[in-house]
Amino acid sequence: MLTCPICQGALGAVDNGVVCAAGHRFDRARQGYLNLLPVQHKNSRDPGDNAAMVEARRRFLDGGHYAPLATRLAELAAARNPARWLDIGCGEGYYTARIAEALPQAQGYALDISREAVKRACKRATQLEWLVASMARVPLSDSSCQLLASVFSPLDWQEARRLLAPGGGLLRMGPSREHLLELRQKLYDQVRDYDDQKHLELIPDGMRLAHSETLRFALQLDSAEARADLLAMTPHGWRASVERRNAVIAAPFEVTVAIRYDWIEKL
Ligand SMILES: C[S@@+](CC[C@H](N)C(=O)[O-])C[C@H]1O[C@@H](n2cnc3c(N)ncnc32)[C@H](O)[C@@H]1O
Repeated sequence: MLTCPICQGALGAVDNGVVCAAGHRFDRARQGYLNLLPVQHKNSRDPGDNAAMVEARRRFLDGGHYAPLATRLAELAAARNPARWLDIGCGEGYYTARIAEALPQAQGYALDISREAVKRACKRATQLEWLVASMARVPLSDSSCQLLASVFSPLDWQEARRLLAPGGGLLRMGPSREHLLELRQKLYDQVRDYDDQKHLELIPDGMRLAHSETLRFALQLDSAEARADLLAMTPHGWRASVERRNAVIAAPFEVTVAIRYDWIEKL
C-alpha cells in the first residue's frame, strides 16, 4: 500500500526500510517509524509542531482531560469497521492509539509532518505503520483506505478523496463554536465568533457530509500545569499577550469543551 513520495511507485520492504523500483530508499528509524518526507518536500528544516508543543499536548492529553473525546472518536471509528485506516496529522498519537484499540483487526497507518510528534507517537501502538510524511503528498495508493481520521488538524481534501475507497469516509473531529469559550474570553478583549461549519465548504465533488454530532462537557482546570499546557498546545499560546496568558495560568477556572464530529463519505 505504501508508495514512494518521489516517484509514486510501490514501496517494498528491504532490510530495515523500504525501496521502490526506481531505487528510492527510505530507512526505518530506531523508534520504528518510516521517514517518507524527502528533503525537497520540506518547506522548513523541522516542519509541523515543535517538541515543546508536542510535549505540552502529550502531558495534557495523558492527564485524561479530553478522554471523553477520544472515547467517542473510537466508537465512531469502530462503527465503520474499516479494513484499512489512516490518521492524517496524528500528532503525538493519543487519539490514534484509541482508534487502534477500537479496530484491532484493521490495518492502521498514521502520519504527521513533525518528526518530534511521530517519534513519540509510534511508541503508543507499535502494530501501526507510523510515517513522517506530508498530508499534501500522502505515500499511500489511491482508494486504499476505508476510513481517514483528521483530528484537530488541517487537511488536504483532494488527497483525502484520492485515498478513500468508494463508500469509505473521513472522520473529522474539530472545535465547535463554544469550544474553550471561557479561556478565549480571558485571553482576548474581543472573542472572535468561530464558524464551525467552514470546513464543510471545502468538501470536494464526489464526497458528501453524512453525519454530524457535537460532544460538550465542562472541564475544571484545577492544575496550573494543565492550564499552561492547554495554552501551549493551541495557537492561543503565542497569539495572546504574556500578561493575559500568565493570568490564565494563575487561577483555576471551568471551561467548556465542545467538539464536533463529521463523517464525510466518498460516493
Ligand atoms: C493541532 S495538531 C493535532 C495533533 C493530533 N491529531 C491531536 O489532536 O492530538 C495538528 C498536527 O498537524 C500536523 N501537520 C501540520 N501540517 C501538516 C502537513 N502538511 N502534513 C502532515 N501533518 C501536518 C502538525 O505537525 C500537528 O501535529
